[in-house]
Amino acid sequence: MSSPLQQAIGDRIRAEGPIPFRDYMELALYHPRHGYYTAGDPPMGRRGDFITAPEISPLFGRVIGRQLTEMWEHLKRPDRFDIIEFGPGRGLLAKAVLEALTAGPLADRLVYHLVEISPTLRAHQRESLAGLPLTVYPDPAEAIPGSYGWSAAKALPCGLTGVVLSNEFLDALPVHRLIHKDGRPWELYVAKGTAHAGPFCWHYGPLSDPCLEDWIARHITGKGVTLEEGQLFEVNLAAADWMKAVDRLLTRGFVLTVDYGHPVEKLYSPERYEGTLVCYRRHRADADPLEDVGEKDMTAHLDFTSLQSVASELGWQNLGLISQMWFLAHWLRPEDLLTGPAMTVEDFRRHQALKKVLLPGGMGEIFKVLIQSKGLPPLPLTGLGATNR
Ligand SMILES: C[S@@+](CC[C@H](N)C(=O)[O-])C[C@H]1O[C@@H](n2cnc3c(N)ncnc32)[C@H](O)[C@@H]1O
Repeated sequence: MSSPLQQAIGDRIRAEGPIPFRDYMELALYHPRHGYYTAGDPPMGRRGDFITAPEISPLFGRVIGRQLTEMWEHLKRPDRFDIIEFGPGRGLLAKAVLEALTAGPLADRLVYHLVEISPTLRAHQRESLAGLPLTVYPDPAEAIPGSYGWSAAKALPCGLTGVVLSNEFLDALPVHRLIHKDGRPWELYVAKGTAHAGPFCWHYGPLSDPCLEDWIARHITGKGVTLEEGQLFEVNLAAADWMKAVDRLLTRGFVLTVDYGHPVEKLYSPERYEGTLVCYRRHRADADPLEDVGEKDMTAHLDFTSLQSVASELGWQNLGLISQMWFLAHWLRPEDLLTGPAMTVEDFRRHQALKKVLLPGGMGEIFKVLIQSKGLPPLPLTGLGATNR
């Protein structure tokens, strides 16, 4: 028996022929009714399929709140400061950030926008944020300082001063999957499978999007990378499109992106001959996105070099790329580690959670913080190691 999602993808393939893996991934994760993120239970958290830093420790969001406050100061303390979070999950980063900021001078100056594709997750965000001392705006065009609310990216007002924030958002965007064969790139497509092989199978064919050839020439081979015969790799054109959309929204401010990825030479090195596409189900990783579609997450590592190149093309400043460990360590304070004169069981729990997001060999090293700015001169930031506090 095939699931409603398998049927929907099968119908599309019947109508159009094999579809680019990018379109398959988009349907698998974000089909309006049956996608992994849009149907059923929230995928993240201890009882879900994967866990993210804000789900592990509220200190992660508290520290980001400190970085946001410093950014507001660099912007000369405007009376209105917009924070736009893309892909807020269950809303725990927003909750920790807003709890921290509403206790300080930003309380009646901030407007927090949540941009979330999944109605299920929007409902969770609403629950997480209930009880904050802020009003909920009905429409982003009517947002006033001291409020938060939900908006589609396209409905956000342009010309904002503030920060665009995301944690594990860009790695969740659909990617093109490619193979380097006979000296040139080919694209991976998903076709109908057979009774024995499962509902779907792989095909390869010419590039589906004319932008891909130029992208590979400029951002991969043009950066000195030599792909091996048979090497699989991914290209995330959606991340670049997102940056262009952010450019239209933000007039002056910062873009703070937390995610996993590598510089181009590492991402496309022979060490990653099979690419970086991976699925997660119940905290286990697997490499088969065609099996049990809709029941597991799919993600691919980011190419931080291309995010920096696109930023330069847009006239932004690349202020720094740093491991999550060092970003957090630069902001941590003694009182984050010990709340009283002696360590309590609660302190110990907090330490354990902090270790998970901080330590090298785990999230502290795999995750990176990329900070970029627009409409501003280069500015020192504490999270990046500047000692301007
Ligand atoms: C891997 S989850 C990360 C969740 C959260 N930031 C966290 O750290 O727990 C990816 C998030 O991005 C959202 N998302 C993916 N594509 C989106 C899009 N095009 N617009 C808005 N949200 C999107 C997902 O629904 C989900 O909330």
